[in-house]
Amino acid sequence: MIELKNVTKIYNPKKNNQFRALNKISLIINDGEFCAIIGKSGSGKSTLLHILGLLDTFSGEYFFGKRNIAKLKERASSKLRAAKIGFVKQDFALIEEYSALDNVMLPLYPIGARDKKKKAMTAIKKLGISHLAAKEVSQLSGGEKQRVAIARAIVNDPKIILADEPTGALDSRTAAEIMDVFKSLNSEGKTVIIVTHDLSIAKLCGRIIEISDGEIVSA
Ligand SMILES: Nc1ncnc2c1ncn2[C@@H]1O[C@H](COP(=O)(O)OP(=O)(O)OP(=O)(O)O)[C@@H](O)[C@H]1O
Ligand SMILES: [Mg+2]
Repeated sequence: MIELKNVTKIYNPKKNNQFRALNKISLIINDGEFCAIIGKSGSGKSTLLHILGLLDTFSGEYFFGKRNIAKLKERASSKLRAAKIGFVKQDFALIEEYSALDNVMLPLYPIGARDKKKKAMTAIKKLGISHLAAKEVSQLSGGEKQRVAIARAIVNDPKIILADEPTGALDSRTAAEIMDVFKSLNSEGKTVIIVTHDLSIAKLCGRIIEISDGEIVSA
């Protein structure tokens, strides 16, 4: 279970251009949930997802299971992130000149995992892209890149998968296929949280969390 209590995010806090992107967000997400975070552009969706993914600082409280994230040192939170969280960034964030396989293996180096190639191929197979493993990412379609990005996010078998606009750049058929991938990961027991501005995509998830101007309006 993850729980946020009065989480606030202020960008540039000490400057005169400071901006309150999240204002006192309180939220509980149980293990195994499949949630969509929706809201207009600039409402704070990515900011919230980055905080959930232990990728950004905040004020307030965040409990990840029994751990109080605000009290963890940077090294401990990196370790927790590497072990428990898979993150799919808004723009894939793949290394274009590497093969799909090499991209998927990347998260396994810092944690010193064994059998890196085998683990990466297992994730790649799960995404149905075994035939693309050796191909350079620059030569893949958007939907194929999204699958590589998801394979990389799940290679370490995380408990939670976070994805920022995973269908944003895809045609509706490819988007539906990617949503099926998340659905099946969720039915394996993983908690899945995606950000989308597309209500028809959000409706495929079990729960919709709507934010507006940095505040939760429904959850
Ligand atoms: N690093 C930053 N420094 C200052 N302001 C920021 C920073 N990142 C985001 N913001 C501001 O915080 C607000 C929320 O941004 P965020 O990226 O979370 O929105 P979003 O809901 O994901 O939008 P989109 O749908 O366009 O991706 C925006 O007004 C944005 O300009
Ligand atoms: Mg965003």
